Amino acid sequence: MKFFIDTANLDQIREAKDLGVLDGVTTNPSLMAKEGISGHDRVMKHYVDICEIVQEGDVSAEVISTNYDEMIKEGEFLASLHPNIVVKVPMIKDGIKAIRYFTDHGIRTNCTLVFSAGQALLAAKAGASYVSPFIGRLDDISTDGLELIEQIRIIYDNYGFDTEILAASVRHPMHIVQCAEIGADVMTGPLSAIMALLKHPLTDSGLAQFLADHKKAAESNS
Ligand code: G3P
Repeated sequence: MKFFIDTANLDQIREAKDLGVLDGVTTNPSLMAKEGISGHDRVMKHYVDICEIVQEGDVSAEVISTNYDEMIKEGEFLASLHPNIVVKVPMIKDGIKAIRYFTDHGIRTNCTLVFSAGQALLAAKAGASYVSPFIGRLDDISTDGLELIEQIRIIYDNYGFDTEILAASVRHPMHIVQCAEIGADVMTGPLSAIMALLKHPLTDSGLAQFLADHKKAAESNS
C-alpha cells in the first residue's frame, strides 16, 4: 500500500520524505488555506514546491471550478506545472465529464469527495486514476468508512478497473492497518497517523532492557 501524506505543510512533507516512506501527497483547498497559501501564483508555486520535495510520487492538486469548461482549463494548467501532478476533481456531474476528458487526453485524475460505492463505480467508469473515499468523515457521521473501502475493492476487482483506491480522510494508525488488510492501493492521512505506527510499549521497554543489559555487561568487563 502506498503512503501519501494529506497536507500542504512543507515541513511535514520533508519529514515524511526523510523517513523514507513517502509515496505522494494529497492536498485540498482547505489544507492550502490552513498553511495561509492563497492567490493563484502562490498556490501554483506551492504545488511545484511540494512536487520538488516529493521528487518521485504523485501530488494531487484540486480544481476550484465546478463547471466543466472551467475545470478543463484549470486542470490542464495544473497538469502543466509538473509531471507528477494529478488533477483532483470533485464527484459532481461536471466533474465526471471532466475526468473523462482528462483521461482521454492523458491527464491523470483523483476523483475526490467520494462517499458511496456507486460514486466510486462512476469514477472508475470515467477512467479516474484514483478514487478518494473519505473514511474518517463517514465515521464522523456513524457510518463505517472501512466498509466502503471493502465494497469498492470488491467492485473494482470484479471488473478489473485500473482506478486505484486512495483511502482518504484517514485519522489514526488503525485506519492505516485496516486499509492495508482490505487492500486499499493507497492511504492518505496526517503525518501523526503514520508516526503512530511506530509506537508499541513493548518495543520501548524491550529496547530499554537491551540497552541496560549491554551497559551492565560492559561495566562488569571493565
Ligand atoms: O484530502 C481529503 C481528505 O483526506 C480530508 O480529510 O481529515 O479533512 O476529513 P479530513
